[in-house]
Amino acid sequence: MRHPLVMGNWKLNGNKQMTAGLIDGLRKALSGVDGCDVAIAPPVIYLDQAKHALSGSHISLGAQNVDINLSGAFTGDISAEMLKDIGAKYIIIGHSERRTYHKESDEFITKKFAVLKEAGLIPVLCIGETESENEAGKTEEVCARQIDAVLNALGADAFKDAVIAYEPIWAIGTGKSATPAQAQAIHQFIRQHIAKKDAAIAEQVIIQYGGSVNDKNAAELFTQPDIDGALVGGASLKADAFAVIVNAAAAAKKAC
Ligand code: PGA
Repeated sequence: MRHPLVMGNWKLNGNKQMTAGLIDGLRKALSGVDGCDVAIAPPVIYLDQAKHALSGSHISLGAQNVDINLSGAFTGDISAEMLKDIGAKYIIIGHSERRTYHKESDEFITKKFAVLKEAGLIPVLCIGETESENEAGKTEEVCARQIDAVLNALGADAFKDAVIAYEPIWAIGTGKSATPAQAQAIHQFIRQHIAKKDAAIAEQVIIQYGGSVNDKNAAELFTQPDIDGALVGGASLKADAFAVIVNAAAAAKKAC
């Protein structure tokens, strides 16, 4: 039975005060939650502060990016070993904002996936189509290509204990979430696509939905059998809204 994972992607938001206040609010709001894994990914400069603030709670630490190199002359980069050293567990890679603004390719993202697995960290691989690809009926083709980059280079085994976040780009930060039925259809497609290589790996891989998930629409999304939690941007910056989403994932799990 898969455990849902609700993860907050803070993106380029926050400061020391906000990190302290938000984590304090989350600890209070989430103290009794059971049946859903929870993680937050603050900006890298606040990871150490966040790790201390989370100590003794069930909330895991995540990060928003990693470099493909482990050490050396790579100015400005952060390695998988450094993220591990600081106590991060889940690392977002392939987010559409990095694919777009930093021109990250499927091949480059696959290298990130490999260094994370090597370090014993959990990749949260973001995939998803643009609005025009969606309108052109290319959603499955795009998702298959993005998954195949990892499957073909690293094998299906790489997805053991890994996380995929299906995030249609047209839904990110727009307030226009995919409908539960739309998301379910693609999540099922992704799982079946991996199952063609390895059914057991496909069955256990966590597939989160991301894109305008909020306290109003989360519960219905989580009723879908192939939606295993969410990657949450905007709503993860408010402790109350994020707690509603986590509780909805835990409740949906109990109901099935
Ligand atoms: P959003 O962002 O929840 O603000 O749409 C999700 C994401 O980019 O991970």
